[in-house]
Amino acid sequence: MSKKYQNFINGKWCDALSGEVFKNRNPANWYGDLVGTFPKSNAEDVDIAVKAARKGFEKWCKVPAPERGDLMMKATLIMEKRKEELAQLETREMGKVIAETRGDVQEGIDTGYFGAGESRRMHGKTVPSEMPNKFAMITRNPLGVCGLISPWNFPMAIPTWKSFPALMCGNSIVMKPASLTPATATKLIEILLDAGFPPEVVNIVHGPGSAVGNAIVMHPDVNAISFTGSSEIGKIINSRAGAELKRVSLELGGKNAQIVMPDADLDLAVDGALWGAFGTTGQRCTATSRLILHEAIHDEVVEKLISRAKNLKIGDGLLPETDMGPVVDESAMNGILEYIKIGQEEDGATLATGGKQLTDGEHAKGWFLEPTIFTDVKAGMRIEQEEIFGPVLSVIKIKSFEEAIKVLNGTEYGLSSSIYTNDVNQSFAAIRDIEAGITYVNGPTIGAECHLLFGGVKNTGNGHREGGWGAYEFFSEPKTVYVDYSGKLQRAQIDNR
Ligand code: UN1
Repeated sequence: MSKKYQNFINGKWCDALSGEVFKNRNPANWYGDLVGTFPKSNAEDVDIAVKAARKGFEKWCKVPAPERGDLMMKATLIMEKRKEELAQLETREMGKVIAETRGDVQEGIDTGYFGAGESRRMHGKTVPSEMPNKFAMITRNPLGVCGLISPWNFPMAIPTWKSFPALMCGNSIVMKPASLTPATATKLIEILLDAGFPPEVVNIVHGPGSAVGNAIVMHPDVNAISFTGSSEIGKIINSRAGAELKRVSLELGGKNAQIVMPDADLDLAVDGALWGAFGTTGQRCTATSRLILHEAIHDEVVEKLISRAKNLKIGDGLLPETDMGPVVDESAMNGILEYIKIGQEEDGATLATGGKQLTDGEHAKGWFLEPTIFTDVKAGMRIEQEEIFGPVLSVIKIKSFEEAIKVLNGTEYGLSSSIYTNDVNQSFAAIRDIEAGITYVNGPTIGAECHLLFGGVKNTGNGHREGGWGAYEFFSEPKTVYVDYSGKLQRAQIDNR
């Protein structure tokens, strides 16, 4: 059953001004299940949305934050009630297995509860003044209109990471979800409206990044941009928005690695690698795409991992027996297959298992790929350096802890990382030496929780963090306030020295 979806702009559900539409299909059943048609908007639609958001902002920023939090709580309770329906829709449009889309919606719910609570904190700071009878403090003000550009791999969680803190801080939003997964984000807007958020404050504009995303980035009345996607696009956004001195938060690529040392619990390490590499069909920025194994346990881990990977059931994510769903579309499939070819031919690594698109039976309907493991991968090979964003794991053999850290750090990215060891000294040395925004000890590289900071170093981002209080810092402007109650002119740095 396909549905006609619309933009929500200036308090109304509407088509694109151009009247054009695009299609959203189910990656497990590409031609058999059209999820919906969506407005193919452009800069004109964005302009109306930004003007509405500006108007909405003028009132919204004056609403006491705890009152905003009450609406957040209502929205969260609606999401919770609709969790199953949202997860089903999400699996249809994105492909990942239903247990994972339930988790994705749950991450949104958690972000909502956190936001409702945060609305009653919004901590500033008070500090003593140098002068007598003078009060000094920092408060938080909203930024204005925030442009939120989200990816397709977490169709609910990431739009909530961006929109909930933006709204709780008193900003209005113009959201542009990925064109591969626009339905879930539209449901999120519906939920915010049902909860009572003022219509002009929440806007969603569908369409291509090159038209809609770019128009949001370039619009003179958009104050901040939050973007999750590739490093390549992130750099373009940063240069364009940065030239206008907009605040920009970027969550970009990753080439995350899991280290396994000889003293680790090897079965646990295999569980972690399997989930980290093939959960979400490898399509997470936090996915484990490199497994760095100490030579003493290399063969044993590889053997266990290959037999487990071969047993994964690949299919439609809505079927309860499925372990791994499809990749998101044909172009993703082609990109991943290209890397598998590069791994075999250019890099000369050993394809230990997988590597093929599945086209038998039901698989012929969608974009299914075998879980793929390369062994004999050397540091510096392209499959070891470049983000593949699919179910492809590169195994690298190392001889020492120092070498493991060097290999882990040897890419342009630094999002997530993991080490399996039972040596407390080694785990703390790894926490210190790994160059990444997130480090797990004895856990896989995926599975961040919404109330902690999320983000990375190097080409993974530009220093901001999503999640937890980090998002509240990004979406608010500090205001330094001095109140002099001495009743006379006090000259700082002069009268008191
Ligand atoms: C992403 O892949 O962009 O930590 C987000 C995790 C999830 C979020 C991933 N909670 O794997």
